[in-house]
Amino acid sequence: MTDALPRSVLVVGSGGREHALVRSLLASPAQPRVVSAPGNAGIAQDVPCYAVAADNIAELVALAQREKIEFVVVGPEVPLSLGLVDALLAAGIPAYGPKADGARLEASKVFTKQILLKYNLPTAAAGIFTEVAPALDYVRHRGAPIVIKADGLAAGKGVVVAQSLAEAEAAVLDMLAGNKFGSAGSQILVEDCMFGEETSLLVVVSGRDYVILPVSQDHKRIGDGDTGPNTGGMGTYSPAEVVTPELLARIDREIVRPSVEAIASEGIDFRGTLFIGIMLTPSGPSVLEYNTRFGDPETQVVLPRLRTDVLALLWRAAKGSLGGMKLEVRPEFALCVVVAAQGYPEKFSKGDAIKIPATLPPDTVVFHAGTARNSAGEIVTNGGRVLGVTALAPTLREAAARAYAACDSIECASKYFRRDIGARQLHRS
Ligand code: GLY
Repeated sequence: MTDALPRSVLVVGSGGREHALVRSLLASPAQPRVVSAPGNAGIAQDVPCYAVAADNIAELVALAQREKIEFVVVGPEVPLSLGLVDALLAAGIPAYGPKADGARLEASKVFTKQILLKYNLPTAAAGIFTEVAPALDYVRHRGAPIVIKADGLAAGKGVVVAQSLAEAEAAVLDMLAGNKFGSAGSQILVEDCMFGEETSLLVVVSGRDYVILPVSQDHKRIGDGDTGPNTGGMGTYSPAEVVTPELLARIDREIVRPSVEAIASEGIDFRGTLFIGIMLTPSGPSVLEYNTRFGDPETQVVLPRLRTDVLALLWRAAKGSLGGMKLEVRPEFALCVVVAAQGYPEKFSKGDAIKIPATLPPDTVVFHAGTARNSAGEIVTNGGRVLGVTALAPTLREAAARAYAACDSIECASKYFRRDIGARQLHRS
């Protein structure tokens, strides 16, 4: 028996992921009142937004109480790791997202690696270091390419895939001696490099129950052909056909089910999204990382493909009644192109006017991320990743054509986007 659905929902965060969550919650047949904090200019076109930062735990709880919010959906990792869900539950407000103990699976790469190794989950061999000399010895012993990861949260920038020993040694020194990521880099993982295609699996977890959402693939590098520095993600598509139904069954058997069981066995009552980054290596799927929230921009292609009521899905996960829930998925392909500000992920300008045409190609939606309104009331750039343009269509090629037609029609002096989102799957077909 499922509880009645909540009548009011607060979505915490300000990115494209949160805009997609807001849209899906608004589409619920239960017609909840949806609000957001802090939101962005696009979210504010859809629902009321409150100027409370996503990491201000006390103010978010106070806001939820003041607005008589019955359910809080937490988007980003930082409030989760700061214990927002713990604080909301203590105040009697149900929330979607893990408590701080579960959020540690993203906030500490060392913690996750120890769990992966303890429960024999497939993952790369790694060493854990706090001192420079043994880390350098290990790097030289393993050779390049090799991966250096800061332990803590570093906004997606704490992973260096070093192609040479010199690059690896520089990354070790930057993190352990140069304090490049502050306390997040005071402990590092040095991991063998895995080769293959990467895939993103978003799993809605409630204790030992879970539902696997449609599989997607992200494009992490800034430049076409997967070149240049890593970003938070420049575009996604779903389904990722490289994950065949047989392979997904194997991933479920070898990775998802054992991960959920391992987390529960560690005494963590995880209720939220377990986002498993998986490398499809020649010897089988292997865990790259856990995140403990929806992916961005994975959410912008996964949620629009769900026919299932997202409010019911998240509520049942939060309330421990997810068991037996079946997903209904639209058969269309979804593709999202992230429109960024020129210069991202390094220095970029803010405040450039954005004009989105009133008419877009069919089944195309513009999710806002780094946007704000200036004093003249114009929508302007306000972050590195500015928009996520998602299109659905019967083929991936048509979805790409629609998304790119929309990106080309958006006016913004500093817009930059990759031209090859989905190319790998398109070349295979
Ligand atoms: N797109 C990758 C992430 O959300 O971490």
